[in-house]
Amino acid sequence: MKNLIDIKDLSIEEIDELIKVAKNIMQNPEKYSEKCKHKKLATLFFEPSTRTRLSFEAAMMELGGNVLGFSEASSSSTAKGESVSDTIRVVGAYSDIIAMRHPKEGAPLVASTKSIVPIINAGDGGHNHPTQTLTDLLTISYEKGRLDNLTIGMCGDLKFGRTVHSLITAMARYKNIRLVLISPEELKIPEYIKEEIIEKNNIDYIETNDIEEHMSKLDILYMTRVQKERFFNEEDYVRLKDYYILNNEKLKKAKKDLAILHPLPRVNEISTEVDEDPRACYFKQAECGKYIRMALILKMLDIK
Ligand code: CP
Repeated sequence: MKNLIDIKDLSIEEIDELIKVAKNIMQNPEKYSEKCKHKKLATLFFEPSTRTRLSFEAAMMELGGNVLGFSEASSSSTAKGESVSDTIRVVGAYSDIIAMRHPKEGAPLVASTKSIVPIINAGDGGHNHPTQTLTDLLTISYEKGRLDNLTIGMCGDLKFGRTVHSLITAMARYKNIRLVLISPEELKIPEYIKEEIIEKNNIDYIETNDIEEHMSKLDILYMTRVQKERFFNEEDYVRLKDYYILNNEKLKKAKKDLAILHPLPRVNEISTEVDEDPRACYFKQAECGKYIRMALILKMLDIK
């Protein structure tokens, strides 16, 4: 596999294999500690990150490899006007694999056409975030023991939330998935996701702005933050940012085995009182991100 730009670049069989390897790494980390000796991962982050960049770097370190890169465009020669294509050509000479985040949708795809080493999309604008989706799938598999027969509530900024777009694209390939899409009118799921993914795959779905209306039916509740950085005006962001605040009261009718996920960072959309609820899985989810990225690096470098 040359690049991972979109979750659709992976078949269901490949995703299942990655999840299997990630679970094995969780149980036997020492077995993998030298698998990437002498290999280098470059993390090129043109946009802020905590989990994705640091979990990629921790993943490579725990595989015995090395990391290099930058965490903001302003500390790279992008600030002097260098193009993404030139940056990628150069960094390919210093590394074996590149994880790249960029605010422009499609930038990692363009980069992949110029790169001599594999490119991983670590998030492009409001478009896609395939390694977050792998993280989400590992977490769901870990918590529920399955990736089919699930009712999934997705709540918050469904318009700009790239993790939601990638997760819906992935879940559409599993059997008997039902979606409850919970958002204010202005932050509804984009039409292209609805038409080309949800409706084309005959996924049963409901759109609502009420977080409690369908709470009792959910197996997964995937909360998201309102994506401040994608808004054109501050006023709209301020009006919408606290539209949903999940708290213990709102969870009263939820199933005992509900799994609450959030790609993080959280702002106000989950009250910290929920952190003590055994159904809160979002910190475990962030940990899963390191293991699935370890499995992905091995696959992309073709290391058994
Ligand atoms: N979930 C996620 O992508 O987090 P970061 O922005 O901190 O990488």
